[in-house]
Order: sequence, then C-alpha cells, then structure tokens
Amino acid sequence: MKAGIDKIGFYAPHLYVDMTKLAESRNVDPDKFTIGIGQEKMAVPPMTQDAVTLAANAAVDILEDSDKEAIDFVIFGTETGVDSSKSAAVYVHELLGLNPYARAIEVKQACYGATAGIQMAKAHIAMNPDSKVLVLGSDIARYGLSTPGEATQGAGAVALLISADPRVMALEDESVYFTADIMDFWRPVYSDKAFADGKLSNEQYMAFFSRVWEQYKVKTGLALSDFAAICYHLPYTKLGYKALKTVLEEGTEEVQERLLASYNVSTGYNRNVGNIYTGSLYLSLLSLLEQTDKLVAGDRIGMFSYGSGAVGEFFTGILQSNYQDYLNIDRHTELFASRSEISVPEYEAIFEETLPTDGSTVKLDVEIDPARICLAGIADDKRQYVNKVKSVSY
Ligand code: COA
Repeated sequence: MKAGIDKIGFYAPHLYVDMTKLAESRNVDPDKFTIGIGQEKMAVPPMTQDAVTLAANAAVDILEDSDKEAIDFVIFGTETGVDSSKSAAVYVHELLGLNPYARAIEVKQACYGATAGIQMAKAHIAMNPDSKVLVLGSDIARYGLSTPGEATQGAGAVALLISADPRVMALEDESVYFTADIMDFWRPVYSDKAFADGKLSNEQYMAFFSRVWEQYKVKTGLALSDFAAICYHLPYTKLGYKALKTVLEEGTEEVQERLLASYNVSTGYNRNVGNIYTGSLYLSLLSLLEQTDKLVAGDRIGMFSYGSGAVGEFFTGILQSNYQDYLNIDRHTELFASRSEISVPEYEAIFEETLPTDGSTVKLDVEIDPARICLAGIADDKRQYVNKVKSVSY
C-alpha cells in the first residue's frame, strides 16, 4: 500500500517587508540579504495571527467534508506554539470542524517537527488505511530587531493531508535520520525570541546533510542521478544551495543542471516568505511542484529536513500520476499577489507588540486581517479564536 501526501495547503500573513529596504535601514548592503542570504521579502504576522491561526488558514482551503470525516489524527509540528500544555492541534481541530473521534497532538524538535509528524502519519496510515492524517508545520520565526538573524525571520504554515493512495506524492520507506546534542539554536521557555549561534547552525546543517546523504546512499544503493530534485529545509535560500553544491559533482553535467534548475524553482516561495521553521522544507516542496513543468509522474524527490538541536533526516517521495491536478496553484498565486508591503518602521512596531501576560482582556480587530481564521483576543488567559466563515469562536 502506498502512503503519502494527498494535498498540500499553505498560508502566510498578508503583510511583508522588502529585504532591500530592511537592509538599507540596517546600513547593510542589500546584496547581502538578497544574494548572500537569498531572501527578497519577509512575511510579517499581525497580532491576529499566531501558529494556530496560520496552520488553520493553511489547512482550511484544502479540506473537503469527506477529508474532515476521515481525519482521525492531527499532528502539529511547531516550535512557536501558544501554550506549554494544550496542543495547538486541538485548537485547529475545532476551528476546522474535524471529526471528534481523532487524536490531536503537538510535536517539537525545532524545524524538524513536521517531518516527525509525517513519518508518524505514514505509520498510522499503514495500520489504518481508511483514515487520513492532517500534519501541520506552522511557526513565526523571531530573532529580534537588528540582530544577525533578523534577515532570516518569517511566518507561515504548511498543511499536509497524508493518506493511503496519495494523489501528489507517495513516500518511500527508506529514510536516514540522525540526532546529536548541539547548541546551535534554541529558545528557552522565558524568551519569545530564538537564540542562535549562526555559524555553528550553518556548519551543523551541512554536516547533518552530509551524514544522512552518505548513509542513505549506502542503505539504498541509489545515487544522485536517481533524483529529479532535492528539496531542503530553508532557513534562508542560500543555505540549501550550499548543501546541494557539496554533492553536485557526484552527478554528470546533465544531472547537475537538472538539480540546480529544480533547486532554484524550489526556493521561489521561501525567498518571498522567509523562514517558517517547521514548514520551510514543505514550502520548498510546494514551490517546486507548483512552479515547474519539468517534473513528471514517477520522478523521485529527495527531502532534507533539519531541526537545530539537532535532528536531521533524508527521505524521499515519488510523484503520482496527474499530481498537478491536486495542487492549489491559483490560490497560492492569489495569496502572494494580494499581500501588502509595510515599511520598516511599521514592521518594527508590529514586532514589538505583545499580548498581555497578566490575565487582562484584549480584543483585536480581526476585520483588518483578511485571513479567514484569526486570533480575536485574549480573556482570562485564554486565547479567543474566530473562524469568520464557520463562525466558531470560544
Ligand atoms: N553581497 C553579496 N553577498 C554578501 C554580501 C554582499 N554585499 N555581504 C555578505 N555576503 C554574503 C556572505 O559572504 C555570506 O555568504 P557565505 O555564507 O556564502 O559566505 C552571506 O552573505 C551571509 O553573510 P554573513 O556575514 O555570514 O552573515 P551574518 O554573520 O550576518 O549571519 C546568518 C548570517 C544566517 C548566520 C544569520 O542570519 C543567522 O544567525 N540566522 C539565524 C540562524 C539560521 O538561520 N541558521 C541556519 C541553520 S538552521
């Protein structure tokens, strides 16, 4: 039985900052951000969006009633969840009106969480072929104003519907995963901003890629030429390129050209959204699938997942017949086209806004956020969410 990705949804907040303007305001050469780091626009979440709403907005467009009935497991990968006890998956389950006979959990291992979710989902489908699993990767990347990490912030979510007989991509069984205790990036519970040893995190990303790739080849006997494309976790688009470059000479000139071309396509969405942590690899996959006509059914796509701290995994999927028919290209084109640019001072003001932590009540104006699902406020230390269409609020 095949199991894998049946549908992919994506959402990013409607506001963004232009990286050239951010660079100028930080007295940095804009080429450093646009070429050296490889980012053009950075999504900025208003107060009305958090990890829960971003994920719910990513999923809401892709689910039909039959999916909502069949989903019996919601796995929410995030490192910027809203509660240390209650899982973000429970909120999303309610906001989307899913079958109550479901499990709903949150998974954490930095940017690797959604990959763990996908592998758990695949095992669940193997045992329960009629069920479907909703895997979410949703985050708001925050390092702080004028920090080295600032240019690699972003916000957004990807929703993956995992099922038997998937229509987009069947996941193959062989994968290689690797764990080592490394302090390259972390966020203590008292901080709303991440701490990063940027150079170390880059080094470890490359080292983990090398380890899992080498082991994958030994385990499977496959080679670079067996891949139509390799997608990478992309904290910023230049990093995946550096990792790809380390293996390119294992292929002929033709293989190198193919992988470089597909890599460029796979960075398009990320370049315009920024880092979305858990969802970044899957945003890259979505960018590849939606923006090229060079792929065909049967093509093998490699995926490198990395979550600082650190866990890495290399795994693969095979594109299914007519997979293009099950993508949401128009919706995502419209999502990018309808975003609004904000100035650097406006972004800074939004960045500094916080919700109360003393139990006081706040009501947020959800009408100025075009998203269907928003955070409407906080009362009695409880987040108040609203689905403007389904009108579930609690
Ligand atoms: N034109 C073109 N490129 C330029 C440039 C210019 N004017 N100025 C600098 N660059 C290049 C640098 O050469 C470098 O490229 P290289 O890595 O290929 O050598 C790149 O831009 C970044 O410059 P660097 O000086 O290394 O940037 P930095 O010290 O400000 O830090 C990060 C960059 C990514 C380490 C930092 O943004 C960070 O800490 N981010 C958060 C952690 C993270 O994302 N880690 C990733 C792994 S999970």
